[in-house]
Formats: sequence, C-alpha cells, structure tokens
Amino acid sequence: MTVTIVGAQLGDEGKGGIVDLFGDAADVVARYQGGDNAGHTVVHQGEEYKLSLVPSGAIRGKVGILGNGCVVNLRTLFDELDTLRERGLDPDVRVAERAHAIMPYHRVLDGIEEEAKSDDDLEAGTTGRGIGPTYEDKVGRRGIRIGDLLDPDVFRERLEYVVPQKRALVEDVFGMEAGEEFDIDTLHEEFSEYGRRLREENMTVNAGEFLADSIDGGDNVVLEGAQGTSIDIDHGIYPYVTSSNPTAGGACTGTGLGPTTIGQGEIVGIIKAYLSRVGTGPLPTELKGDDTQEELAEYIREEGGEYGTVTGRPRRVGWLDMPMLRHAARASGFTGLAINHLDVLAGLDEVKVGHAYELDGETIYSMPPTTEKWGECEPVFRTFDGWPEEDWEAVADEGYDGLPEGAQAYLDYLSEELETPIYAIGIGPDRSESIVLERPFEQ
Ligand code: IMP
Repeated sequence: MTVTIVGAQLGDEGKGGIVDLFGDAADVVARYQGGDNAGHTVVHQGEEYKLSLVPSGAIRGKVGILGNGCVVNLRTLFDELDTLRERGLDPDVRVAERAHAIMPYHRVLDGIEEEAKSDDDLEAGTTGRGIGPTYEDKVGRRGIRIGDLLDPDVFRERLEYVVPQKRALVEDVFGMEAGEEFDIDTLHEEFSEYGRRLREENMTVNAGEFLADSIDGGDNVVLEGAQGTSIDIDHGIYPYVTSSNPTAGGACTGTGLGPTTIGQGEIVGIIKAYLSRVGTGPLPTELKGDDTQEELAEYIREEGGEYGTVTGRPRRVGWLDMPMLRHAARASGFTGLAINHLDVLAGLDEVKVGHAYELDGETIYSMPPTTEKWGECEPVFRTFDGWPEEDWEAVADEGYDGLPEGAQAYLDYLSEELETPIYAIGIGPDRSESIVLERPFEQ
C-alpha cells in the first residue's frame, strides 16, 4: 500500500520527521515533485544529515526514488550521494528517466527573473535553485529529461535546440552576458558524465512500473511530497508559489501510479502548529505590526528554529490559519493528520487560531482563489489557553493523555474542524519526542 505525505501549509511543516516516523515500516520512499529546493535534516544513529534531494528514507536503508514529477540537479544529487558514502552509508537512490534535469542555465535564469520581477515586488522569493525555469521548459516541451542524458547524441540534439534560445533570452531580453552555463560543449561534457554514472550505477528507473511492481509484491511505499499546499502551482497563492503540485494529485502524476492506487492508501496532511513562511506574498495571520506581535513572532522563531534549511533565511511567523487548512484537506483528501512543533507554542499565555476570514463584509471558511483577495482577508481569531513547558520525552512516553489540557483542546479543535483523525503529534525535534496514535501502514 501507499502512504502519501502532503504539506498542508506553506512548506517546512516537518514532513521529513513524519516520513521518518511512518517510513520505518516502508520499503520504498518516493518523492513526487520539487527538486533541491526542499531541505530536510535527518538524524540517524546520532549523526545529522542535511539533504535537499536524496529522499530521507535512503539513509535508513530504504530504496529512494526521485519520481518523474521531480526536477533533478545532478550536481546536488551526486554531491549528496558522495558525501553520504564518505560517511559510511550506502544509499540506494533511483531516478525516473522521465524526470527533468535542472541545468546550470536554469539556476542563472531563476536569479535573473527574480531580480527583474523585484522592481514590481512580484518576486516569489525563490530558493534560486532553478526550479521554476526547469518546470517551464518541461511544459514548453524543450526540457532535458534524465533519460536523454543516457544517450550523448540525443542529449546534444536537445542542447542544440534549447541553449541558443536561453542565450538569446539572457543577452537580448535581459541585456546581460551569458556565461559558461550557456555553452553547449561545456554542458555536454559535464552532464554526459552524469549520464554515464547514472547508467553504470544502474540508477535510472521507469518510476511508475517500478513502484507498481513494488506494491504488487507487497511492499509498503511512502510517497513524499515536498513544499506545501499553499505554494502549489494550482492550489496555492499564485504567483508566490513553487512550480509543481505538492498536493496529493501530484503524487499520481509525479510517480506514474493511478489515483485509485493512491486512494486505497492513506494521505496524511502534515501541519505545523503555527505558520511559517520563507517567501514573499500576503499572510493574513502573520504576527507583525506592533511590538507585542513582533516579540511573539521572535519567540516562536527562536523556539522553533524558523530559519530556512536551504537558504538560512529567517522565516515569517503567524498563527495557525484554518481556512488554509480546510482548503488543503479538501484539495488532497486527507485521511489522517500529523501535527508538528506543538512544543514550540508552550509557555505562551494564550494561543490564537485564525478560525475564519472576514472578506467584503462576509465570513468565509476557506481561502479565496486569488491571492489579492487572500491579502484582503481579515482573520477572525479564536483564542485558546496556553500550555506550559513540559518534559516532552516524558509526555511522549505517556501518550496523548500526558499532553497539557490546553494543548489537547487545541488538537481536538483542529481534528474536529478538519473532520480528520490525528495520527501523530510532534513535540520535539527527536523521533522519541512524538506521540503516535495511528501507524498508517498498520491500519
Ligand atoms: P522555488 O521553489 O525555489 O521556485 O520557490 C518558489 C516559492 O516556494 C518561494 O516562495 C520559496 O520560498 C517557496 N519554497 C520552495 N521550496 C520550499 C520549501 O521546501 N519550503 C518552504 N518554501 C519553499
């Protein structure tokens, strides 16, 4: 069966920890979208690993797949794999031949376009990893797929079509100088070598077929989404979004498994107990505006370590946004929830939740479809009693009943509002600091 892990907010909900927790019972962990914009930290046998592309399960001896919906920076991939091997691990990572390669020119173009947009405050605050430009080329039918790199002649043909266009874009449209990232021979040499490694190390797969065979053979498969629902290209706060589908539909198109297969499994929405955001754009429940709010934001930022894993940028912080979560639960059809970082809110006198929005004189309970309207939404808050700091390991041992009353009321509200049971609660960075109520592979 499959368990699909989906970020319910703006990314950085702590999906990695949950993949880790539920992934124990998995044989295969497959990512279905995104690229090296998704930073995750994995602690294994006391060692910390910071990864942006290799699926976290690969560190724990699972087969890691980068599905066809991913965009793959091969420099990052081989860097991460080589580093893991130097540290004594033997990760088994396979890449879909249908996945697209992030080329050096994509990263350059990401930077140039963000810079150009910044004049009108339209920049998405991207991670600068070339994600958007690579997906653009995929949809524009001029991308380079992992399978293309396996045949040097096909690869050269693709480069000869696309690189002159990119060069012209940089030079003629943006009036800048195109560097070696736009040189066909240089690109061909470096990336044919990656193609050779992929072939010789037997790293490429037909992802859909591989995963379907694994499931037929009785394997447990985790489908790991990166980023989150509100930065989904279709369901998110366009244009301040990433260029792929973190929602559960992306797990189908990004792996080659059908919705019936995924629908027979579980779809777990991962929620951080508050909001955090690295990019630009509106954020109705953001903590800002006066000293009290800024202090609260600072407190949560410090307690929660809210700094980007990939970029190191301090994250914006806000109260939990229920309209955002109702939208996420519908878009992906969550069968279970995991609530992370509940401990971070401990010590506050009261905890607020954006329960609904006021928009144009009406109360609404889900996100409006345009980001401009979302920016006009005034949150209608509900206030919960705070809860004290605890010995969270001891609470984890005791389970749900060991949680302070205020925290229980907060969780019960969340589960009732989203009409979805809670499967896990994160109350600290360590795996031992979590309360597991349901193990989805054991349902
Ligand atoms: P891109 O994915 O680098 O193109 O960035 C587009 C938007 O998605 C920006 O607002 C990024 O900050 C955001 N984003 C991309 N990846 C992540 C992530 O892993 N966590 C949170 N935000 C992300």
